[in-house]
Amino acid sequence: MCGIVAYIGRKQALPILFEGLKRLEYRGYDSAGVGVLNGEVHEVHVCRSVGRVRVLEDKVEAAGGLTGTIGIAHTRWATHGGVTEANAHPHRDDSSVGHRIAIIHNGIIENYSSLKKYLEEKGHSFTSETDTEVLAHLIGELYHGDLEKAVQAALREVTGAYAIAVICAEEPDTLVVARKGSPLLVGVGNGEFIVASDSSAIVAHTTQAFTLPDFTVAKLTRDNFRTATIDDVPITAEVRELEFELAEIELGPYEHYMLKEIFEQPRSLRMTLQGRADSRTGSIVLGGIGEHARTLANAKRIVMVGQGTALHASMVGKYLMEDLAKIAAEHDFASEFRYRNPIVDFGTAVIAVSQSGETADTLAALQEAKQRGALALGVVNVVGSTIARETDAGVYLRVGPEIGVASTKAFTGQIMALAMLALFIGRRRYLSQDFVSSFISEMNAIPDRITRVLERSDSIRTATAKYVDRENWLFLGRGANYPVALEGALKLKEISYIHAEGMPAAEMKHGPIALIDKGMPVVFIATRNSQYEKVLANISEVRSRGGHVIAVATEGDEEIRSMAEEVFYVPQTIEALQPLVNVIPLQLLAYHAAVLRGKDVDKPRNLAKSVTVE
Ligand code: G6P
Repeated sequence: MCGIVAYIGRKQALPILFEGLKRLEYRGYDSAGVGVLNGEVHEVHVCRSVGRVRVLEDKVEAAGGLTGTIGIAHTRWATHGGVTEANAHPHRDDSSVGHRIAIIHNGIIENYSSLKKYLEEKGHSFTSETDTEVLAHLIGELYHGDLEKAVQAALREVTGAYAIAVICAEEPDTLVVARKGSPLLVGVGNGEFIVASDSSAIVAHTTQAFTLPDFTVAKLTRDNFRTATIDDVPITAEVRELEFELAEIELGPYEHYMLKEIFEQPRSLRMTLQGRADSRTGSIVLGGIGEHARTLANAKRIVMVGQGTALHASMVGKYLMEDLAKIAAEHDFASEFRYRNPIVDFGTAVIAVSQSGETADTLAALQEAKQRGALALGVVNVVGSTIARETDAGVYLRVGPEIGVASTKAFTGQIMALAMLALFIGRRRYLSQDFVSSFISEMNAIPDRITRVLERSDSIRTATAKYVDRENWLFLGRGANYPVALEGALKLKEISYIHAEGMPAAEMKHGPIALIDKGMPVVFIATRNSQYEKVLANISEVRSRGGHVIAVATEGDEEIRSMAEEVFYVPQTIEALQPLVNVIPLQLLAYHAAVLRGKDVDKPRNLAKSVTVE
């Protein structure tokens, strides 16, 4: 979703802003813009364009560049108004006062139409369809020689979500940023500040940063900063060390971030497990659960909420919780949970599952559950993210930054974290030390099992090539392999734009079987488990109608060869952990399909990495 970068310091702002924008490209966007304040002439120069950051860069260069040591830049993912240059940020205040203010914004100003009406009555005229331009005008209207005060006053009138960075031609030594709901991080350098939507645009410059609580504003001057609420009550910002290094967000020898992250999974899962799962003592140590262990172990019900891939991980989590922790467990779209008057009480633990920790619906669902008395937990990747900060306790994934829009290593990290959480609870309820010890041994063996699947990437590519021109696919699985089927279908549609549906294998007979005709690819997750025979029966149903079967099967299963056009073999593990291995060939299938179809794997159309609006 929209990416924000802003700079104030002693260096030229433009190259720093462009480098930051490129680091944020992965978030997803459709247009971009930059504004630099030239302190000598007291003017803000703005350049905007539709399309890639590269296009904007060429445009700025053709116009002779932008000079100044303070600036703001933005990648926009359209919400209010179409994808046009006029709607791209930065937005400015009324031209009649000479465009003093320029602003970039991520979020949604919900009451923008009433504010717009009020401003129009005062003589303002607007050049875009955006809510952000209204905010720019409002700040301009309230500006009386102090930018920080004008921003505070404007935000007191606003309902909605925002992360903003504002500059003013009359104050060349001030950058004002503010936040409510949308992500914003302030990097603290030596005589400079770099503000961004996430740390990937900051780590090249500094590893010291602070986040702003909701409803607060930071005034950044080159050597100093001041933080206060929108009512001007001073607050103290806590500067902390950023968790990851620049090398982690570099592509290295890989062609795409998605491929890099698929191949990182053995290592990232070792990080998830490190120091937490000890097979010798049969113990799970989760420091992030702290004093809530007893409440969690006594919970009557667990509800896991998330969106997209995180929801699929939550679905696997349901099986793990019921199997290992023996607690009634559910999963739900965070977006549905928050609006359906859910039954939540003191015996309920709600787990928000999220890679970014910023998904607006997941955050709102968590807040709703907290308000109703639930224990609020998080299974989150990004340290210090909003969801992580809002929870009572949680488990970080520790899989490192995920840049590819199609989530891969976060999915396996989420399942592993939920498995640890289930064992942690189960051990306090019913599970013996011996059981937990042997389960942990198997968990620790998962990274090597995944490596074995990754070694087959080339043959998966060869098989995928045969079906890559088919526009409709089905993915079928039973039990915990049903969410794997959903995830396989999601990966394929996200990056190759092939229509794919995932469903429980038994459900196929209740309608979708009508779709199957000659040559339609149907992917079965058919590893040997308690429901294996049933899956074979479903495979026969597909074959007898001319469908082409691609099976994910257990190494050594020769029987399945005669029933499938293609077989992707995976090593066997215990049934509860098998989704961690089974999803790997499906990630590779989606990746190869997208590359073979010539699609931009890391920047799929219309998608955002982190969805910070409802
Ligand atoms: C977006 C991303 C998905 C992701 C989902 C939830 O739709 O494109 O890959 O699964 O948001 O994101 P989260 O950061 O909460 O896991």
